[in-house]
Amino acid sequence: MIYLELKIDLKDIDFQQLVECSLNAIWVIGEEGKILYCNKACLELLKLSSAQEILYKNLYVFLPYDIHDICKERLKGVLEKEEAIELFEAKMIRNDGKVIDVEVRTVPYYFKDKVLAQVIIQDITQRKITERLLKDREKLASIGQIAAGIAHEIKNPLTSVKGFLQLLKESHPHRYLETMETELEQAFDTLDNFLQVSKPNLQDEPFIPVNLCKELTSLLSLFQQRLYNVQIEIDLKDSERKVMGKRNLFLKAFFNLIKNALEAIQDKGKIRIEHYYKDEYIHIKVSDTGVGIPEDELKMLGTPFFSNKSDGTGLGLTQVFTTVHEHAGNISIQSTIGKGTSFHIQLPVH
Ligand SMILES: Nc1ncnc2c1ncn2[C@@H]1O[C@H](COP(=O)(O)OP(=O)(O)O)[C@@H](O)[C@H]1O
Ligand SMILES: [Mg+2]
Repeated sequence: MIYLELKIDLKDIDFQQLVECSLNAIWVIGEEGKILYCNKACLELLKLSSAQEILYKNLYVFLPYDIHDICKERLKGVLEKEEAIELFEAKMIRNDGKVIDVEVRTVPYYFKDKVLAQVIIQDITQRKITERLLKDREKLASIGQIAAGIAHEIKNPLTSVKGFLQLLKESHPHRYLETMETELEQAFDTLDNFLQVSKPNLQDEPFIPVNLCKELTSLLSLFQQRLYNVQIEIDLKDSERKVMGKRNLFLKAFFNLIKNALEAIQDKGKIRIEHYYKDEYIHIKVSDTGVGIPEDELKMLGTPFFSNKSDGTGLGLTQVFTTVHEHAGNISIQSTIGKGTSFHIQLPVH
C-alpha cells in the first residue's frame, strides 16, 4: 500500500539498469549487422558469459545461413528507411551450437546523429515444441478416426460370417467350426478394443458409483494362472470409497495395466497394487519390478499403436489414458531401466 504514495520522477529512473536487466533480450545493431549492445537476458539466451564475447561481432554469426538475406533486407529497412519490423519468427544459433526458435521485433533507435536498430528477441523454442506435439497428436487422432471407420466397416461383414457360421454349425457340425468361431471372436475383440480407444465417446455406459477395491480384487483373480513366478502385493486402503465412473472402462484400464506389468517381468518379480484416498482423490498405483521403460519412450506411452512387443497392439495404454482423462483424472509414470515401472492414477471422487 505504501507504494501507492511513491512517486517516481522520470529523471531519477536508472534507465541503463532497466534495459540491462530487462527480461527481454535486447540487442542494438549498427551498420552491416555489427552488434553494439547486448543486455543480460540476451547473453543468457545465447549462452554467452560476457558481453565482450559478442560486442562488435557480426550478428550473422548467430543466424543460420538460410535467413541471412532476409535479415539483411530487413535491417536495411530499419537503418535506411527507419521502418519498424513487425514480429517475425526466426532461428538463432546459440554459442553452444544449439539452434533455437525465436520471435524478433525490431525498431529504429536514434543514437546521436545515427539510426541504429533495437532488436528484441524472445526464445519460443518451448512453444514450438508444444505446437509440434499438438500437430502430431492431431495427425494421430485423424489417423485413429479413419482407422475406426475401417474397423466399423470390417465388423459388418464379420457379423454376417458369424451368423452363417452359427447356421453351419447346426446343419453340418465340424470340429474346425469351433476354432473358426473362437478366432472370429478374437477378431471382434480386437476391433471392439480399437473402436473403444479411438472413439471412446461411442461407449454410452452410464456413470455409476464404482468401488475400485472390489473391482481390483476380482480382476486379479483373472490372472491367477499366470502368477506362478510373480508375487502380488496388495495394499488396499479406504476400501469403502467409491468413484463415479464407467465401470467397464475402469476394469479394462486396470486389466491393461496389470497385463503390461506382468509382461514386463521376464523371470521372477513382484507386482504391487495400492489403493488409497487422499485430498478428494482416489489414488491407484500399479508398480512392477519389470524391465522398465527408457526415458525417451516415456513420452510415447499412450500413443496409439506404440508397442515394443512382437504381438503387441499398442492400444492398451491408449485405453488407460483415455479412460483416466474421461474421468477428469491424472496419470503419472515413473520408471527405471532394469528396476521397474510404476503407474500412478488419481481419480476425483466427485
Ligand atoms: N509396466 C510396463 N513396463 C515396461 N514397459 C511397459 C509397461 N507398460 C507399458 N510398457 C511399454 O509400453 C508399450 C505400450 O503398451 P500398450 O499400450 O499396453 O501396448 P502393448 O502392451 O500391446 O505393447 C509396451 O509395448 C511396452 O513397451
Ligand atoms: Mg499392453
